[in-house]
Amino acid sequence: MPNDRKVLVTSALPYANGPIHIGHMVEYIQTDVFVRYQRLRGRVCYYLCADDTHGTPIMLKAQAEGISPEQLITRVAAEHLRDFTDFGISFDRFGSTHSDENRILSEHFYTRLAAAGHIATRTIEQAFDPVKQMFLPDRFIRGECPRCHAADQYGDSCESCGATYTPAELINPVSALSGAAPVTRSSEHYFFKLGDFSDDLKAFTASDALPKEAGHKLAEWLTEGLSDWDISRDAPYFGFEIPHAKDKYFYVWLDAPVGYIATFWQLRSRLEGRSLDIDAVRSQWAQYAVHHFIGKDILNFHGLFWPAMLKAASFAQPTAIHVHGFLTINGKKMSKSRGTFITARRYLDCLPAEYLRYYFAAKLNGAIEDIDLNLDDFRARINADLVGKLVNIASRSAQLLARHLDNTLADVLPDAPLYAEFLKASESIEDCYEACEYSRAVKIVMDLADRANRYVDETRPWEIARTPQRRAELQGVCTQALNLFRVLIAYLKPILPETAAKVEALLGGPELNFESVKTPRLACAIQPYTHLMRRIEAADLAPLIDEAGGEGVPRKAAPERPAPAKAEPAKTEPKEATASDTIAAEDFARIDLRVARVVAADYVEGADKLLRLSLDLNEGRTRTVFAGIRHAYAPADLVGRLVVCVANLKPRKMRFGVSEGMVLAASDAQGLVVLEPGEGARPGMTIR
Ligand code: MSP
Ligand code: ZN
Repeated sequence: MPNDRKVLVTSALPYANGPIHIGHMVEYIQTDVFVRYQRLRGRVCYYLCADDTHGTPIMLKAQAEGISPEQLITRVAAEHLRDFTDFGISFDRFGSTHSDENRILSEHFYTRLAAAGHIATRTIEQAFDPVKQMFLPDRFIRGECPRCHAADQYGDSCESCGATYTPAELINPVSALSGAAPVTRSSEHYFFKLGDFSDDLKAFTASDALPKEAGHKLAEWLTEGLSDWDISRDAPYFGFEIPHAKDKYFYVWLDAPVGYIATFWQLRSRLEGRSLDIDAVRSQWAQYAVHHFIGKDILNFHGLFWPAMLKAASFAQPTAIHVHGFLTINGKKMSKSRGTFITARRYLDCLPAEYLRYYFAAKLNGAIEDIDLNLDDFRARINADLVGKLVNIASRSAQLLARHLDNTLADVLPDAPLYAEFLKASESIEDCYEACEYSRAVKIVMDLADRANRYVDETRPWEIARTPQRRAELQGVCTQALNLFRVLIAYLKPILPETAAKVEALLGGPELNFESVKTPRLACAIQPYTHLMRRIEAADLAPLIDEAGGEGVPRKAAPERPAPAKAEPAKTEPKEATASDTIAAEDFARIDLRVARVVAADYVEGADKLLRLSLDLNEGRTRTVFAGIRHAYAPADLVGRLVVCVANLKPRKMRFGVSEGMVLAASDAQGLVVLEPGEGARPGMTIR
């Protein structure tokens, strides 16, 4: 992308008939990271979105609530915008397709199409609800599947066997609105003759505006031949009326993408402080590199219909269409009945937005693959990467700096080459953001975080801190670590904007970006360290699934759970306690359990199961404990954490040294977790 081109970025416009859920957030987070990256590079970049407000479902939902569609979409827009804002989505404007600008533009597009002879009219037959007195979209017709005979299936597809068909093929169809059997009625419809644009579309789908994979898919549709696209709907409908046609409305998908330009129009009017006409909007639009972000389900609208409409109305084609896959949860499609329909709001009630931003970023690679949110993996990943690796670099050093050096940074970096190495990574990280391969950017940053932690582990500042004569050395090490951390936070700023702001406040100096970190922070005071991030506990995740019954509607059935594997009647089954298995309270009291802090953790050369831990039990010295947990933890995951230590275990001489205790861990066939005392515990506390 040429550096001087202004950038205009859109996400698909969410339907106003339901809440934002975390599947949507894959897209809005992906787009927001791209936008924030562009701005961080100093480019002019605007991010536009709007609610998609028209169509039958919205009209019916408003009816069901006893309010007008306008009231409904006003309420939903406020809810959507609040969710997006709380996820850190940085729109420059969030509009609505139900606006004057969008009506004027939609009419303009249509008039241009009609004037050039691209609109045809034809009478078609359609299912009509005789009670409700309206034509029925396929999804409002239910009946028996013509193939597998499952009852109560949609008018166009069977959820049971996956068959697709027309509503006319359904057995015993009924209207989902009234329960009446639909009758067939004919009506005149307006069609957009897409085939008139085949050559343009062939060129567009072969261009690099689309990912290759998406281009191929569209090319297949193109070779099958483009049928005319039905762009009208009969009254009653919530939408824009078609000019010079009585009781005909634009199909929602005609005016929805026009909403991108309508929102752009509103933005330009605001920026220029004057009202613009369509020609001014058209020439403004052409000055931007336009990037659309969409899900794979709406590829045909953006890769075929939309470019054809733009062409017909002499608006510039998009520069790029970025297509992502769908979110699954624990390997399955999001589902209300499984309790995995997690709304944005429910997530935000449980956890910080940035954890999901990070997790999605760590999985997004620019391809159209689906991405999975596995809750165990999510928790492990956030705890290991963000808390264990990233924040750990800062928390250790900043706290030592506060305790011994009055929060003041050294005058020089003791390891300038290491700092230079961190700066050198910026180029490849930029390429990753540019190509929406955030997962690769995250990987590079986390490898560097490992490197920074290794620096701290090797220089052992907590040991240096014990000798008052070595203050300058301690200051150097902490300054180095904090500056390495600062570079990594700058790299992650598009993904973690809130954390970046906290770090800017902590370290002071210019706003963090790829340029400003080239100058390290030296010879100045920093703010006292405050907590940057907390670990995710199992308890944080429970409410996500268990109560996520859609929009606060109680679920009919209990959430499905994987059936427990049939336990072999074998050794793993807990035995019932008999008298001889019990111990006396005194027996237990003989075990001296203590809270300890892991001050260092290292691999042990020649032992592939062990980690060497240095534990602080507040005894005025550290203890060495060898723990067989290497398969479950990287050393950096453990440093700084509190653990439970058996303090009166007889020291054991091993090949690598003496082990002076034991660290408690829980385990089963699936894995191992080191036990951790809760908030407020301090090294040396006794456990009973
Ligand atoms: N209103 C249309 C878009 C009109 S654009 C001119 C629409 N709305 S939507 O609310 O259903 O979806 C909005 C975006 O979110 C789409 O790009 C869609 O692909 C994406 N997602 C919706 N559910 C999703 C998942 N479960 N996973 C990932 N993305 C998902 O389509
Ligand atoms: Zn079926």
